Amino acid sequence: MRKLVKTRDLKVGMYVILDLPWYKHPFLKSSFDVSSENDISRLLKAGIEEVPIDMSLSREVPQDVKPDSQGDVSPAKPLWAPEQLIPPELQAAVHDSTLSSSEKAGIVRKSCLILMERLLESPTAENIHTAKKGLYDVVDLITSEGEMTKHLLDITSHDFYTYTHSANVGILSVSLSKALFGTSGNHNMRELGAAFFLHDLGKVRIDSSYINKPGKLTDEEMREMKRHPAHGFNILHKARELSTECKLIVLEHHERDDGRGYPRGLRGDEIHLYARICAIADVYDALTSMRSYKQPMAPFSALKLMKEEMIGHFHTELFEKFVKMFC
Ligand SMILES: [Fe+2]
Ligand SMILES: [Fe+2]
Repeated sequence: MRKLVKTRDLKVGMYVILDLPWYKHPFLKSSFDVSSENDISRLLKAGIEEVPIDMSLSREVPQDVKPDSQGDVSPAKPLWAPEQLIPPELQAAVHDSTLSSSEKAGIVRKSCLILMERLLESPTAENIHTAKKGLYDVVDLITSEGEMTKHLLDITSHDFYTYTHSANVGILSVSLSKALFGTSGNHNMRELGAAFFLHDLGKVRIDSSYINKPGKLTDEEMREMKRHPAHGFNILHKARELSTECKLIVLEHHERDDGRGYPRGLRGDEIHLYARICAIADVYDALTSMRSYKQPMAPFSALKLMKEEMIGHFHTELFEKFVKMFC
């Protein structure tokens, strides 16, 4: 049941449905839960003065609406169905030769964010299977377009959401793999790319208050957090998705060359090459992203810090290739 509401009368908890194409408003999705006053300000700034809300999906309803006979107007949030995961613009972009690289980069970026957000909200085996197909399109676009990496690096955004981090790490890792492997044909780039995007899938099993905690985790919380690589590996194993070597990306992306990583404390070549690629992108994105407890670092400062203070963490030649992507 829909109701038209003045934007200024919106409340946190109302479920907004924007009847506008996704490129005509500043939000990632065209329908969403109003999560803060900031969302309302952004709507007003975009000149949107009235919006339809879906009453059945809203946790908050206008005061002139009475609760139903059970007194319940706040049903559970919907889960995403497989057919809702992949934005149609992504599939269209793969086959549209009239789009420029920078236009395709914009579609890739926004599609990755939408896809990863929905998948992490509904990480069922069926959705993982469907998401992989969308990620194959993303990998094809990044690997087939010469200028794509440059355009994607130009429009990278950073916040503290796991889906943004997953998209960033996926894009950076696929770009680094492209620089390393070129068109050798010795690596299954689609499968590899999908695994990079899914590297933090195991976080869906971690208490979100740990992930968003504004401060240091306690030892117990950290122990729990460090289980996310194994959780992710197990989820993919049960879903029968990804080859074993690609699942190792998920399991080993927090291992460090000097043996001080987790979960197993592997060293150097004991860590799979693919996971070592992911580890570099993962740390870079963590440093350049906003967190509840820190400001983001500028790209150059992050690369400098990684080179000067963290070099024992990474495969040196891979890191040098990574730096070259930004030059
Ligand atoms: Fe991780
Ligand atoms: Fe990560």
